[in-house]
Amino acid sequence: MEKKQENTKMEKLISLCKRRGFIFQSAEIYGGLQGFWDYGPLGIELKNNIKKAWWKKFVQERNDVVGLDSSIVTNPTVWEKSGHVGGFSDALVECKKCHHRFKAEDLKGNNKCPDCKGELTEEKQFNTMFKTFIGPTEDTASTAYLRPETAQNIFVQFDNIRQSMRKKVPFGIAQIGKAFRNEITPGNFIFRLREFEQMELEFFVNPKDDRKYFKEFVDASYNFFIDLGIKKENIRKYEQKGKELAHYSKETIDLEYNFPFSGKAGSALGEDKGFAELMGIANRTDYDLKAHGIKYKDDTNKEEFVPYVIEPSAGVDRAMLAFLLDAYEEIDGGRSTTTESNKEKEMVLRLHKDLAPYKVAVLPLSKKDEVSGPTKDLYKELQKHWMVAYDDTSSIGRRYRRQDEIGTPYCVTYDFDSNDDKKVTVRDRDTMEQERIPISDLISYLKDKLDN
Ligand code: GAP
Repeated sequence: MEKKQENTKMEKLISLCKRRGFIFQSAEIYGGLQGFWDYGPLGIELKNNIKKAWWKKFVQERNDVVGLDSSIVTNPTVWEKSGHVGGFSDALVECKKCHHRFKAEDLKGNNKCPDCKGELTEEKQFNTMFKTFIGPTEDTASTAYLRPETAQNIFVQFDNIRQSMRKKVPFGIAQIGKAFRNEITPGNFIFRLREFEQMELEFFVNPKDDRKYFKEFVDASYNFFIDLGIKKENIRKYEQKGKELAHYSKETIDLEYNFPFSGKAGSALGEDKGFAELMGIANRTDYDLKAHGIKYKDDTNKEEFVPYVIEPSAGVDRAMLAFLLDAYEEIDGGRSTTTESNKEKEMVLRLHKDLAPYKVAVLPLSKKDEVSGPTKDLYKELQKHWMVAYDDTSSIGRRYRRQDEIGTPYCVTYDFDSNDDKKVTVRDRDTMEQERIPISDLISYLKDKLDN
């Protein structure tokens, strides 16, 4: 029963995302393609805002982190040295009865098919890197790969960045960019994709300091989500054990979000239900720099060592799904007092103001020139500061609800009195309180609410 309700929440969110221009199936008119999605006009705003918030916290506000934007396709030697060509594989098992395939790691020791309880085959290795070809011939000499993580490009630019920016360990390099994995079981909307985006920070430290920085980045990553509104009961830290650890990792803590589906297929559906990886923070030790033959010498004290790497790595798409789910609220019977909306369900996306696609919506009470003319002037003025929506269709109640549904924190209504008293009504998405504000104070009023 509970499962059905929760699935419905996911279905409703997917439908909202399509209806209101957040997320569409890739090439939907041709039936789509599993594991690939497109972000529409509101989706790209939300996605950019997530990336902006992450960059601000992990690059802009730190004096020990710099950025990089590297190529998706690079010299294939990178992937040989990193161990990805030989080892970036998933152990797969197949059900002998229903032939569904599962990642062995998702089954957590369960030896029956989670779907039909059938018997499972032995594990088989499957490399999940996407291959491509450089130049006109498809021979092996020209084989290259679409990067499966952004991290390796950071490692191989370690010396260039350190020297050009005169950085000394400890320091970090951050990158936000696309990654590609030929996932066996893409699904759950934008949870597991074949093309996705990562926000990664590789922080290089003296090996003796690894514990200190590991803890720092676990806490900073956790707070990133809490500060942007994720409810504490929906996020937890999970320490990977034994075989769960990647080949390069000494220690990994995943931040898990309570998704409304079974994140780890086949996991015991007890209190664990739904909690699945949102991001990971790994102690990659000196594995990668050693693999690429990169060394480090401190110019001041002449100490030589191969730095350890502490890596917070988050998926933009997966973070977006968590933010959307956490913000989504449905109010039976509606919360407006207008009669037309009394009986309808209302949806509110209580997105953090920094994430909301539009910060403000400007709504003329009438389409008459004396109202719509000055409203459009106001709209133009506000657009210099924020992403602003303009809506002059249907009743004001409906327009408020449309904005609630896409998470717009403030609506500004220009009415017939506005021409005389030079004031507008500002309505708060969450409290639904309305305040009459002088137009001359509007920008500073909204700045106070939105930019602090
Ligand atoms: N550089 C380390 C690394 O890539 P990972 O745990 O494989 O580690 C990091 O990936 C994060 O990237 C995950 O926690 C998740 O948020 C995101 N991610 C990984 N695979 C994904 C996929 N197929 N679809 C969407 N996001 C994915």
